[in-house]
Amino acid sequence: MIGWHSDTVSEWRNVSSQKTIKVAELFAGVGGFRLGLEGYHNPDEPNMELPAAGPFKTVWANQWEPPGTEAKQFAARCYRARFGEKSVVNEDIHEVLDKYERGEAEIPDVDMVVGGFPCQDYSVAKPLSQAGGIEGKKGVLWWDIYRFLKLKSTPESPVRYVLLENVDRLLKSPASQRGRDFAIILSCLNDLGYSVEWRVVNSAAYGFPQRRKRTYILAYLTGEEWDLDARISQGLMAQAFPIDAPEAKMIQHVKIPADPYIATRDFNKDGKVSPFMDAGVMQDGHVATFKVAEAYEGARRVLGDVLVDESDVPDEFFIEPSQLPKWEYLKGSKSEDRVNKKTGFTYKYSEGSMAFPDALDRPSRTILTGEGGRGASRFKHVIKTEDGRYRRLVPDELDQLQGFPRGWTNTGMTDGQRAFCMGNALVVGVPHAIGKVLASLA
Ligand SMILES: C[S@@+](CC[C@H](N)C(=O)[O-])C[C@H]1O[C@@H](n2cnc3c(N)ncnc32)[C@H](O)[C@@H]1O
Repeated sequence: MIGWHSDTVSEWRNVSSQKTIKVAELFAGVGGFRLGLEGYHNPDEPNMELPAAGPFKTVWANQWEPPGTEAKQFAARCYRARFGEKSVVNEDIHEVLDKYERGEAEIPDVDMVVGGFPCQDYSVAKPLSQAGGIEGKKGVLWWDIYRFLKLKSTPESPVRYVLLENVDRLLKSPASQRGRDFAIILSCLNDLGYSVEWRVVNSAAYGFPQRRKRTYILAYLTGEEWDLDARISQGLMAQAFPIDAPEAKMIQHVKIPADPYIATRDFNKDGKVSPFMDAGVMQDGHVATFKVAEAYEGARRVLGDVLVDESDVPDEFFIEPSQLPKWEYLKGSKSEDRVNKKTGFTYKYSEGSMAFPDALDRPSRTILTGEGGRGASRFKHVIKTEDGRYRRLVPDELDQLQGFPRGWTNTGMTDGQRAFCMGNALVVGVPHAIGKVLASLA
């Protein structure tokens, strides 16, 4: 079985012979990668126990909520509450790396870097050959990952593995030059000497109780020369998340420019669709990619499996009957004239209907950051209780839909902030499955 449900909790904890894989968790949020890789064990909280994927140890973490967002470092506070006061550096990663370069901050050597980062504009303004190296836009977090690797991966202490998470849209962005941004990322990783496997993993296709499609990028240092076409269905990602082997005609080959500036300028300039599909591998700038068919026959969990006892649901999560028409309207299909507030022009607005209430016998839809709060919304989950009432999901249920222990984010946040953190987080079982494969190599 892929997820962590069937593991024995202490599987790795007592294994002292295996060398620890030291991890730095960037953009750590409330610790999804850390939980997936090293599990959780606190004698005071036996209900939160999660198994480790292997001998992983997070030795450094960074999390900082930029100003302007309503959260006030709640994720970092949750991280500290769970992993200890000194477990996370709560400062803008860009400034932390500035300080490190000036010798004013320490970052320990690590074997692995993990992190979930946003889909942004990764374009670069000048060629690699010019002095000063790559120059990406300020505030674009990819460049801080790249800089971290440049600073911390040395011949004496190489960062062997990099595991990153992003939205599935990453493979197609930007709309004006499909696939350019991912080509820039691949070009950078290639420049740093990494071979890469990527996969868009839809967690529900592998038995998890939430449909969440995210791109996972696994970059690693290897002396092995790959047969690219075979690697897609035999590599580490495919071991963690099995797929049917593709027929040769389904595989597309792409060449990645050695310089990210050239990728910015030229990649897929006239193409209407991105060449990158939901599985792929890259070595020495050569890519093979294809659209996967998942091969999974294990157990499956559904939304109904994570529901808490009705007596634990506060009244405010139940929807007043007088409010139901508003929810029904937002969830329903519509085709209506609307007026653009800025231009005053009338336009036709159409959208299809959403399931209302959400089905309990299927995996849930993706949790978004706006899931919390009482206001009616098209995207919040609403379920029907046995006595016929309608209610929103409580934060303990959102924690579990992401594979976090129930109550993980119950560290002094409001319900809305807890929902926000879960909307930002990942399905813990995904890095866990990948971690198990990495641990088996060590
Ligand atoms: C997609 S979320 C990752 C969530 C995480 N994987 C988890 O399990 O909770 C990205 C995180 O990066 C943080 N972040 C954004 N800008 C940052 C910066 N400049 N420095 C450090 N962290 C930042 C956000 O606050 C957010 O928590």
